[in-house]
Amino acid sequence: MAQLLWLALGLLLASSVAEAATANYTFTVQSMRINQLCNNTDIIAVNGQLPGPTIDVFEGDEVVVDVINSSPYNLTIHWHGIMQLRTPWADGPSMVTQCPIQPNSSYIYRFNVTGQEGTLWWHAHSSFLRATVYGAFIIRPRKGNAYPFPMPDQEVPIVLGEWWSQNVVDVENDAVMSGQRPIQSDAYTVNGLTGQLYQCANETFTAVVQPNTTVLLRVINAALNAHLFFKVAGHNFTVVAVDACYTANYTTDTLVLAPGNSVDALIFTDATPGSYYMAVEPHDTLSPSTVATSDDDSTATAILLYNGTSATATPAMPTMPTNFDTTTANAFYFGLRGLPAAVPSPVDVSMTIELGLGQLPCDATQTSCTGKAFAAAMNGVSFRLPTQLSLLEAQFDGKPGVYTADFPDAVPPNGTAMVEGTKVRSLPYNSTVEIVLQNPVALPSENHPIHLHGFNFFVLAQGLGTFTPGNTSAYNLVDPVARNTIAVPTGGWVVIRFLANNPGMWFFHCHLDAHVPMGLGMVFAVENGTTPDSILPPPPDDLPMCRPGSKRRHVVPPPPPPPPEAKAQPPQSHETNGRPPSNKEGGDITRGGAVRSGQDKEQGRSITCLLLLGLILGTIVPLAS
Ligand SMILES: *[C@@H]1O[C@H](CO)[C@@H](O)[C@H](O)[C@H]1NC(C)=O
Ligand SMILES: *[C@@H]1O[C@H](CO)[C@@H](O)[C@H](O)[C@H]1NC(C)=O
Ligand SMILES: *[C@@H]1O[C@H](CO)[C@@H](O)[C@H](O)[C@H]1NC(C)=O
Ligand SMILES: *[C@@H]1O[C@H](CO)[C@@H](O)[C@H](O)[C@H]1NC(C)=O
Ligand SMILES: *[C@@H]1O[C@H](CO)[C@@H](O)[C@H](O)[C@H]1NC(C)=O
Ligand SMILES: *[C@@H]1O[C@H](CO)[C@@H](O)[C@H](O)[C@H]1NC(C)=O
Ligand SMILES: *[C@@H]1O[C@H](CO)[C@@H](O)[C@H](O)[C@H]1NC(C)=O
Ligand SMILES: *[C@@H]1O[C@H](CO)[C@@H](O)[C@H](O)[C@H]1NC(C)=O
Ligand SMILES: *[C@@H]1O[C@H](CO)[C@@H](O)[C@H](O)[C@H]1NC(C)=O
Ligand SMILES: *[C@@H]1O[C@H](CO)[C@@H](O)[C@H](O)[C@H]1NC(C)=O
Ligand SMILES: *[C@@H]1O[C@H](CO)[C@@H](O)[C@H](O)[C@H]1NC(C)=O
Ligand SMILES: *[C@@H]1O[C@H](CO)[C@@H](O)[C@H](O)[C@H]1NC(C)=O
Repeated sequence: MAQLLWLALGLLLASSVAEAATANYTFTVQSMRINQLCNNTDIIAVNGQLPGPTIDVFEGDEVVVDVINSSPYNLTIHWHGIMQLRTPWADGPSMVTQCPIQPNSSYIYRFNVTGQEGTLWWHAHSSFLRATVYGAFIIRPRKGNAYPFPMPDQEVPIVLGEWWSQNVVDVENDAVMSGQRPIQSDAYTVNGLTGQLYQCANETFTAVVQPNTTVLLRVINAALNAHLFFKVAGHNFTVVAVDACYTANYTTDTLVLAPGNSVDALIFTDATPGSYYMAVEPHDTLSPSTVATSDDDSTATAILLYNGTSATATPAMPTMPTNFDTTTANAFYFGLRGLPAAVPSPVDVSMTIELGLGQLPCDATQTSCTGKAFAAAMNGVSFRLPTQLSLLEAQFDGKPGVYTADFPDAVPPNGTAMVEGTKVRSLPYNSTVEIVLQNPVALPSENHPIHLHGFNFFVLAQGLGTFTPGNTSAYNLVDPVARNTIAVPTGGWVVIRFLANNPGMWFFHCHLDAHVPMGLGMVFAVENGTTPDSILPPPPDDLPMCRPGSKRRHVVPPPPPPPPEAKAQPPQSHETNGRPPSNKEGGDITRGGAVRSGQDKEQGRSITCLLLLGLILGTIVPLAS
């Protein structure tokens, strides 16, 4: 008996080592010339691709990404929606969890994707570089687990972007220096391509589908500053997940995604075989709408083509909502339900955060600003990133003077002037935090997509007008949707709740990139717990330092010259029963810059092994009751 037990334990250990598949990627970030809108534009991109490579892994895998910065700019990468449990040093927001990777340097991001499934994405988290430095991040159920919906026959990543024909770092610098909004973008894109409604669009992203099959669209809004409507002519969607959190089935003909959001939606190809546009246009949320007349309201398209239909057939166009159709957007956001969930309770920390837009006097660095600059604030504090040391290093080292822990829990009295500061809110480890996010009811008001790093949160309630204590009776504590980015309605409010079980510094900010340098953010400083698993770990050796010459800085040789010209490269659409290509031969495979250890086939074994061990110990309890 004892021998059997040891054998079982040995098997368990061996197989759990084999099970911990590691997905290794190398991201080389460099300049690339791309032809778009009749222009050649030099952009910064990963591995010569727009969008960049898709990260495609199983739940429970370890992900290792070596980011080599061969661009002329400081850079970081954020893994948007990855919870980074005990790996805060891999989260990526510049000056929050790390100093930037400087040109000709590199940093290896290492983290596990545990307890999350669905569609996320990655993007640069420094200046406006995420306009072109982004890609999909797909997490599949580990072997033996299934989706909570029938397995799709095919899946197609749909990464929506926003395009400028100019250098986007210059676009941001001009906006910051002048204290004005950035100039409007020139186009929207689907998988890097504008589609045929723009000039000189000689290529369009096309997904070929088989009739009478189920197709999973993994839609991501990677736009910098635009909320987006997405429709497919002749087809309805069944939404099954948002922000990599499963939802109850929700049928609609229109998806709405705030920047940062992702939606997993099934379509069934039972329309008359033909060619159908997938169309994208912005949802302008600024009220009164007269303020928004300078927005880029153009329409991007891709094509859903039934196999057998000619690629030159004229596609059917969906009827799009108007750009100001907030009714349609709110119907979508308010109508979603999650799966039944254990919402943390009772609440330990209760906050109200008001999102404010306003003005501040130009500061000395704003060389082309006259008088006042646009500014934004949470509870009257216009957030400023530190410049000398990242917040996480300051927290770890206990270094004073980098931030203050006095972010207010409540809205300041009417008439209080906006202040600038690097203010954080400390949270005891494992506290349950509830936040009312309140947009101004008085005009002007705008929908702000607020993104929380390090956690998913439950969306308990949302509404228009001013939140009142009576609204608590409308809380959904049964099956609230979970998200990482919440669109706070124009002139309205949202209540979110999360468990602060991850020590570190976690940015909480507007995902309209234009609002980040204006100050629409704050940071949660989650304290250590008492167990080894709840203590902030030390930084990795290669963490980039702010000052040159540090031992932690890892210098790489200068890159080969970039290829003279490249084209947009849409991500591969898998037709593999929901699995990435597996490694039948047992060696390593390389795809789009990825090397993946070939251990998928081992994943079934530990379950068998656990069963065996359970039988030996007599701990297997029949599930049926
Ligand atoms: C091409 O770029 C130039 C400036 O770089 C700009 O003036 C022009 O509008 C661009 N064309 C299009 C179609 O975007
Ligand atoms: C990922 O999980 C494995 C198994 O728990 C652990 O050994 C490893 O250190 C984790 N990796 C990271 C980067 O935390
Ligand atoms: C698209 O148009 C550009 C500019 O006219 C041209 O250089 C390029 O070769 C075209 N690409 C294709 C695939 O036709
Ligand atoms: C799809 O299903 C419909 C209804 O069952 C059937 O009439 C049609 O022939 C099918 N189409 C194809 C291409 O199989
Ligand atoms: C989409 O769903 C609506 C409401 O259920 C229905 O009226 C409409 O016919 C559906 N459209 C398609 C193309 O299936
Ligand atoms: C959604 O509908 C499918 C059938 O189309 C069903 O298998 C699945 O259980 C449903 N999901 C939920 C969460 O109700
Ligand atoms: C289209 O259908 C044919 C015949 O069933 C098949 O051989 C081919 O692979 C399909 N093409 C695509 C792009 O799916
Ligand atoms: C948490 O523990 C780490 C490691 O001991 C320490 O460096 C850090 O300062 C602690 N954090 C806080 C907020 O006390
Ligand atoms: C705030 O004060 C201004 C004048 O200073 C006043 O017009 C406004 O009604 C006040 N708002 C609230 C909510 O009290
Ligand atoms: C954290 O809180 C959750 C929910 O309240 C609880 O289940 C868990 O045991 C707590 N963990 C620790 C380490 O205190
Ligand atoms: C790049 O980062 C370094 C280190 O944080 C900083 O000293 C430098 O000013 C940054 N450069 C730019 C252009 O922001
Ligand atoms: C992936 O990286 C890990 C750790 O850096 C390494 O041990 C492993 O050999 C790598 N796997 C492949 C397939 O390169």
